[in-house]
Amino acid sequence: MRNKISSILFLERIGDKLTVEGWVRTRRDSKGGFSFIEINDGSCLQNLQVIADGSLSNYQTEILRLQTGCSVRVTGIVAPSQGKGQTVELQAEFIDVIGWSDPDQYSLQKKRHSFEFLRTIAHLRPRTNTFGAIARVRNAMSIAIHSFFQDRGFLYIHTPIITGSDCEGAGEMFKVTTLDLAQVPQKDGHIDFEKDFFGAPAHLTVSGQLEAEIYALALGDVYTFGPTFRAENSNTSRHLAEFWMVEPEMAFCDLEGDVGMATAFLKYVFTYVLEHCREDMAFFNRFMDSTIIETLERIISKDFETVSYGEAVRILSEAKEGFEFPVAWGTDLQSEHERYLCEKVFKGPIVVIDYPKEIKAFYMKVNQDNKTVRAMDVLVPKVGEIIGGSQREDDHDILLQRIKDMGLEPDNYWWYLELRKFGSVPHAGFGLGFERLIQFVTGMTNIRDVIPFPRTPGNISF
Ligand code: 4AD
Ligand code: MG
Repeated sequence: MRNKISSILFLERIGDKLTVEGWVRTRRDSKGGFSFIEINDGSCLQNLQVIADGSLSNYQTEILRLQTGCSVRVTGIVAPSQGKGQTVELQAEFIDVIGWSDPDQYSLQKKRHSFEFLRTIAHLRPRTNTFGAIARVRNAMSIAIHSFFQDRGFLYIHTPIITGSDCEGAGEMFKVTTLDLAQVPQKDGHIDFEKDFFGAPAHLTVSGQLEAEIYALALGDVYTFGPTFRAENSNTSRHLAEFWMVEPEMAFCDLEGDVGMATAFLKYVFTYVLEHCREDMAFFNRFMDSTIIETLERIISKDFETVSYGEAVRILSEAKEGFEFPVAWGTDLQSEHERYLCEKVFKGPIVVIDYPKEIKAFYMKVNQDNKTVRAMDVLVPKVGEIIGGSQREDDHDILLQRIKDMGLEPDNYWWYLELRKFGSVPHAGFGLGFERLIQFVTGMTNIRDVIPFPRTPGNISF
């Protein structure tokens, strides 16, 4: 039976005879006629040290040929380790080589590779310490997200990936079609979508929110957690064309309730990852950013500061900082502004509320001033916006007017409008960018390195 290395290192099962299977990280031969083999099986960051004695029957023929990347099965006795860096080791009785790895061809060598290079070998990068740790943290955070909402009685809803509606109204959508691109059928000078698969234009979703609202207005509290797609041509360290979003939607909830849920949610996820991923978090704290653990602990123990957009703009326009983009009431906050507020002014994450209606989506509830909407963005140091949310417009006539004012076609939103006609209630929700959250937690500077297979403009090779 196969044992996970994590359980051996954690439980220190001295004297037990066990079998492990994994990949060789390094082999070192001692003058005393035996070898140290470091094995990793992905269950934890740390390798298991295997002692291969020269008396093993395949020592000369196979063990001395083991290289980085080979896969092996080792059966041996767990013993206290004399060497530095580990408390226990495995004294091998048998080592079977399962798969060889030619060092002249294997591109992942012992030395530290750049993240740029590792992106070109996305099939091998999970075998490195960094990408193994990211995979484990990503897994733990996914579970934390589900348990947070499940504990509070939210239902997990699966919203469609292919959609006929444009949630954010921003038009940055990928088209989905089976039409022959070399011979697109035309009718009256336009593309004839009646001949397309769905008989109408279809896209990859930019957000599951509108469909989540349908379910919230029937079942109370719901959430989605799935892939979303944006065709924005932004080649930045915080944008992906395919990313994962968590979107809770709550009936009978206003903006204050939304902010409260978002901040409780972040604290829960941070607590969870510090508890469940100690070894990986210590690794990130040592090699990526020596402030992350302390920062997360501070956030958990403190309230989030909330500031209005108007106040944020006043602070920014009085700042002595030379911003690339000028700030004035009515303009959207740029990443440099968001980071300045968090890093220099508030020294931690903040929630910005009440943005001008012109720069936010049509569905946000208009405030009494008729100038701002009940929006909230959660901004964090180094990454900027990680959550965007709002109370939704629940008044049918105001919503219809907003749709028209934004130049959208009311007919496309007939069902969304109808939700405001029958048992409409105040409701609110938010969207969390999962990869940006992982960036913040791990200190990884590029979003391409916190998702297994990043999709960005001009890049689809894996
Ligand atoms: O602020 P956004 O656009 O909000 C929505 O989509 C709402 N429908 C959410 C809701 O209220 N249910 O996106 C939400 C979050 C952002 O704060 C950001 O963290 C992330 O999604 N995000 C991206 N992450 C990676 N790459 C991109 N291109 C992203 N665009 C948005
Ligand atoms: Mg946003």
